[in-house]
Amino acid sequence: MRILAIETSCDETAIALLEANGGLPAGRQGLKSPRFRVLKNLISSQIETHRPWGGVVPNLAKREHLKNLPHVFENLKLKNGNYRTIDLLATTVGPGLEPCLWAGIEFTKEIYKKLKIENSKLKILGANHLEGHLYSFLLSKKYTREKDLKNLFPAIALIVSGGHTILLYLSSLTKMQKLGETRDDAVGECFDKAARMLELPFPGGPEIQRLAAKGNPNAINFPRPMINTKDYDFSFSGLKTSVLYHLRDLGYGHRGIANGGKKKSAPNPIPKTLVANTCASFQKAAIDVLVAKTMRAARVAKARSVMLSGGVAANKLLRKTLEKESKKIGAKFFAPEMAYNTDNAAMIGVAAYINFLRKKNRKIIAQGNLNL
Ligand code: KG4
Ligand code: ZN
Repeated sequence: MRILAIETSCDETAIALLEANGGLPAGRQGLKSPRFRVLKNLISSQIETHRPWGGVVPNLAKREHLKNLPHVFENLKLKNGNYRTIDLLATTVGPGLEPCLWAGIEFTKEIYKKLKIENSKLKILGANHLEGHLYSFLLSKKYTREKDLKNLFPAIALIVSGGHTILLYLSSLTKMQKLGETRDDAVGECFDKAARMLELPFPGGPEIQRLAAKGNPNAINFPRPMINTKDYDFSFSGLKTSVLYHLRDLGYGHRGIANGGKKKSAPNPIPKTLVANTCASFQKAAIDVLVAKTMRAARVAKARSVMLSGGVAANKLLRKTLEKESKKIGAKFFAPEMAYNTDNAAMIGVAAYINFLRKKNRKIIAQGNLNL
């Protein structure tokens, strides 16, 4: 099956073309191993547009999607004949910013109308962005070396992005139970906000990782919120506030927040060593909590694998630590390859294919608060 997938839930305009094979339902065991080949994975990032505001501005994002979608589609360089080979159109319906979701949905519907004339079998399916992240490990080389999907379950999955922090138990690829989630900020959001306090550009996650490499992770003893609670929920707003107080106590107030491109006056720049130490100590604190809770869930569930996904899954320390800890308990560790951690459309194609196999149709309308 050839799938054209479109993702516009936040600030990336993404279109992918992929082939999917196998994975027909195998009774109560869930799905047999589906296989994917990504032919094109195009992303037009809006980071530069939003950077002066220090975060994503929904209406600006929608405007950029409307402008970028036709160009990205054009860049697929599909010849006329190739359009006829597409079997399924997939589009993100949520969660995300509703004006942005609508931009992608309307664009996909337009393509559907045009292609349907020549290709009466063409299907259109809505996809859940979180399922996209969750299933993005199916695009990794490591997964393709696995003989049988069944061997991976039960599994514990951690989804960590700018909007979500969710821990799941999966008895199969499609049967899942939410163990816990964040009670306040998502961990990616916490990275972004801490970076803002340190006057680092948006998005903060990659910047914090880069500067953490130059700092001492034990320099500042930031709290590890809820690390020892018996549940599987998370809380990151206290950690964020601790960064703020730490800087303020040292006389570096929260003053340099980008303000529509105009920076407020910065009489007292934060010393480089303090920035690096704050990054390293903050990163370590956030990751300690994520790893402790994920691995406790994995031990309790006797998990055969641990799956990490979402934008924060790009974090090298998080990947390395979870991989090492999974090994210790004899569980396999899966994380998407770098191109598929942050938002992309290939993962949306994967999620849509899984829904197609399950004959699960979603309403093709924007659902900003859609969950798993
Ligand atoms: O999945 P994603 O692209 O968008 C959402 O669905 O939210 O995740 C974006 C988030 C941002 O908060 C960004 O700062 C974070 O992922 N991120 C990282 C890294 N790369 C991206 N966080 C920590 N370390 C990274 N290397
Ligand atoms: Zn995402």
